[in-house]
Amino acid sequence: MRAIVTGGTGFIGSHIVDMLCADGHHVGVMDISPPAKEWSVPSGVAVHLLDVATREAEDVIAAFAPDVIFHLAANASVPASVADPVEDARTTLLGLLHVLEGARRGGSRKVVYSSSAAIYGDPQVAMPIDETAPLTPLSPYGVAKAAGESYLEVYRMLHGLQYAALRYANVYGPRQGLTGEGGVVAIFAEKYAREAPLSLYGDGLHTRDYIFVEDVARANLLAAAFDGSICCHVSTGVETSNLELIAALEAVAGATVPVLREPERAGDIRRSVLNPHMAASKLGFRAQVSLADGLSRTYRWMRQKFSG
Ligand SMILES: NC(=O)c1ccc[n+]([C@@H]2O[C@H](COP(=O)([O-])OP(=O)(O)OC[C@H]3O[C@@H](n4cnc5c(N)ncnc54)[C@H](O)[C@@H]3O)[C@@H](O)[C@H]2O)c1
Repeated sequence: MRAIVTGGTGFIGSHIVDMLCADGHHVGVMDISPPAKEWSVPSGVAVHLLDVATREAEDVIAAFAPDVIFHLAANASVPASVADPVEDARTTLLGLLHVLEGARRGGSRKVVYSSSAAIYGDPQVAMPIDETAPLTPLSPYGVAKAAGESYLEVYRMLHGLQYAALRYANVYGPRQGLTGEGGVVAIFAEKYAREAPLSLYGDGLHTRDYIFVEDVARANLLAAAFDGSICCHVSTGVETSNLELIAALEAVAGATVPVLREPERAGDIRRSVLNPHMAASKLGFRAQVSLADGLSRTYRWMRQKFSG
């Protein structure tokens, strides 16, 4: 297939690009930034260094006429969305609209969209959270992601454009920056790699659902192949507390670092774990990389990064 990956030089997008190229697909990348110095885009992939929220980006997409667009380009940080909600909405919503228009004009079959558990806010429902839970986002980031899902449904109804809205749990793995949405693994792994103290906020019992980036990339490819539109979680269904994460990283690193206890941060959601059953039954997707394996690969990547 012909595929464009927006955000394709970033953390998750670059893994999708690698997987698409390994499967022999014809891939184009659109991103406002070049890749970080630690990795490169596979040869033969055209990189368009463009702001996705522009008419120029839309024209490039329409001219490329991709079968599928993997749309990841957006602000990926919740705190950044609180600091600058206008810029968050510009990249997330105007960016999506230009992608959808490019898809419509270029005759694309499907858009695979990176949504997020942040659309649920702190839902008062039983865990794990089902896709039917009410959407009560607590940040501009979550609002924009949820609105993006509505635009996808409207384009399906108006123009017959298929979509997959993939609501990711906390994604981690090699190439993750220290500021993104799922950043706690990256932040902790960096401390172990540099043998530096880490800060733990609250009692350490806050939980998240951590999913390895290659599993997320595979879910994107399965969603592209699925015939029809879907909105589902990409998650493990496994709940891991910060204390368990620290213990697992200690085992991987074979070392301890000082843990600085800090007061709980206002607004920190206590528990988050997403039911993975719909992705399993509809897409045939099941996370395959265990937390121990994924952390070991992330830690080794961090060590290499900091050893020069
Ligand atoms: N990492 C997670 O745990 C997680 C969880 C849920 C959803 N997501 C979503 O997945 C997507 C990818 O996130 P990531 O973790 O790989 O973050 P990332 O910051 O590494 O990747 C985002 C990429 O988008 C690019 N970008 C940002 N604004 C752009 C613009 N206006 N035009 C073109 N490119 C632009 C950035 O340069 C970057 O390469 C985002 O949409 C994010 O919201 C991530």
